[in-house]
Amino acid sequence: MECTQCDGSGFLFDEEARKAYPCSCRPSRLARKRAAAIAGRIPKAYRGVGFDREPLPSLERAHPHVVREVRRYIGSIGDQLDEGRGMWFTGPPGTGKTTLAMLISKHAMEADRTVAIYSLPRLLAMLRETFRDDAQHSLSQLVDMLCSVDLLHIDDVGAEQTSSWVLEQLYTVVNTRYEEQRSIIVTTNLIGTGASGGDDELREQIGDRTVSRLYEMCGDPFPMFGSDRRLEKQFNLPEPVAASSTPDPFDDSHWDDDRPRYGRAP
Ligand SMILES: Nc1ncnc2c1ncn2[C@@H]1O[C@H](COP(=O)(O)OP(=O)(O)OP(=O)(O)O)[C@@H](O)[C@H]1O
Ligand SMILES: [Mg+2]
Repeated sequence: MECTQCDGSGFLFDEEARKAYPCSCRPSRLARKRAAAIAGRIPKAYRGVGFDREPLPSLERAHPHVVREVRRYIGSIGDQLDEGRGMWFTGPPGTGKTTLAMLISKHAMEADRTVAIYSLPRLLAMLRETFRDDAQHSLSQLVDMLCSVDLLHIDDVGAEQTSSWVLEQLYTVVNTRYEEQRSIIVTTNLIGTGASGGDDELREQIGDRTVSRLYEMCGDPFPMFGSDRRLEKQFNLPEPVAASSTPDPFDDSHWDDDRPRYGRAP
């Protein structure tokens, strides 16, 4: 609804003093903008995620230590992001990794931080697509954008086939964020959580140098155990997003655009 006091900008202007003052509609305007930003960025299946709603209470019972650390991180999210600290979660499918990562991203957005959320296959496809004639961004623009957000959330670091060129670009992104002390949140099921645990598979997939930066930025990954809760719930994955219809994830001029910005590469 348009404000009757200001012109919709959220500010009132005192022409004599030539000063602008926040209008009384500004807080609700900002809250709406924030909610719309979350709606545009967080996949629908995870949009309602919160500490006080399922599956968080169940997850807390199953993984009290992990959820305690997530609470602590979120409780000081401004400092964590300022200091470039991240978190990563590992474990088999359907154990709540993405749920916890989305909870963190959502709180970062609510704290007015810039967040980019990608599944790794989607991110790698975007890097590859920069070579297309009709590409929306050049490679350097895309890398700059990925390096400049306050929080980069890379979901589903799994067993995708890709070329060494693409992995080199991923390394550039991770290394630049490492050097600039900017946070990363990662989920993967490539690090074993049991006695057979080890990160050989992950190192093989995304390279030693990238993995060792992740350890420095995120500490040890938090292991998630258990059976696949998705199967138990007959959970439906978000629809895959076709590359050509994926909106620009950095374009904040379309906050009311509700299309998903996340998904696997076609
Ligand atoms: N401990 C739990 N209790 C109840 N529901 C859970 C629990 N863990 C996960 N779920 C539910 O299972 C589904 C899958 O969770 P999520 O997407 O976070 O899993 P994931 O570990 O990221 O899986 P994948 O490795 O396949 O990406 C969600 O609907 C989530 O709400
Ligand atoms: Mg997941």
